[in-house]
Amino acid sequence: MELGLKGKVAIVTGGSKGLGRAIAMELAREGAKVAICSRGGRELRETAKEIQSRTAGEVLAVVADVTIPEDIEGLVQRTVRKFKRIDILVNNAGRAQPGNLETLTDELLKGDLDVKLFSMVRCSRAVVPYMRKQGGGRIININAVIGRMAVPGFMATITNRGASLAFTKALSDELAKDNILVNSVNIGFVVTPQWENIWKRLGAGLSREDFFQRMADAYVPLRRFGEPEEVSGIVAFLASERASYITGASIDVAGGMGRYV
Ligand SMILES: NC(=O)c1ccc[n+]([C@@H]2O[C@H](COP(=O)([O-])OP(=O)(O)OC[C@H]3O[C@@H](n4cnc5c(N)ncnc54)[C@H](OP(=O)(O)O)[C@@H]3O)[C@@H](O)[C@H]2O)c1
Repeated sequence: MELGLKGKVAIVTGGSKGLGRAIAMELAREGAKVAICSRGGRELRETAKEIQSRTAGEVLAVVADVTIPEDIEGLVQRTVRKFKRIDILVNNAGRAQPGNLETLTDELLKGDLDVKLFSMVRCSRAVVPYMRKQGGGRIININAVIGRMAVPGFMATITNRGASLAFTKALSDELAKDNILVNSVNIGFVVTPQWENIWKRLGAGLSREDFFQRMADAYVPLRRFGEPEEVSGIVAFLASERASYITGASIDVAGGMGRYV
């Protein structure tokens, strides 16, 4: 299927590893020019080099923290300076913040909202004027199925992701007149450095394999974690010409996780 992504310009936040890295790689493989950001510079530069060498695509690496408005402005300006336009924004940067009512302080909850929800708001606000001028664009929010279901110990993420789903819907409605399509891709359990950290924090002495299998058996009908490359394809599709009539959608990529109708 020809996706029509050749020459398009994409920003992928949190593109240094995990899902963001796979998404940036996929978009570059389809011929898009890609700007990636993260806080850590070394990993980011290594990933940019790897994407370049594997795809022969153009990649820009910008050290930026999505909780800092000036960093986002810098990311967007450097992208426009280098690639002259912005067609696609993938709001992917995020992290896990385990906890429950007793352990989550207001500060922890606010911090988590800042990284996940407010970063989507800020990055969208920064790119929309360019997309409007160009006559359209795509915003894809990487979200979580647990925005619509409860999983014990993840109260901050559930609260945050439910709000991110609502934000996606509201933004899609607001920007439809500008031909800017906004969608949400909801992840279940995908093997990334984030989950390696969760295992170390919550694994309670279980081997890595046992921990991952127990989580998968408890929550995922397909009985396994996904791989980042099982997510990146749908993101490239949503960014493409072939998805020109899809906006305000919420698509689960989660091995059947999320037993809601
Ligand atoms: N993996 C899953 O099963 C799963 C499930 C549901 C939702 N998600 C969501 O999917 C997204 C990607 O997750 P992942 O599993 O790939 O996580 P990951 O492996 O931890 O990668 C997260 C990426 O985001 C960057 N990042 C984190 N905080 C940032 C900040 N303040 N500013 C800029 N970049 C930042 C990280 O780089 P630095 O640390 O160097 O900044 C890294 O590049 C996240 O939003 C996550 O919540 C993942």
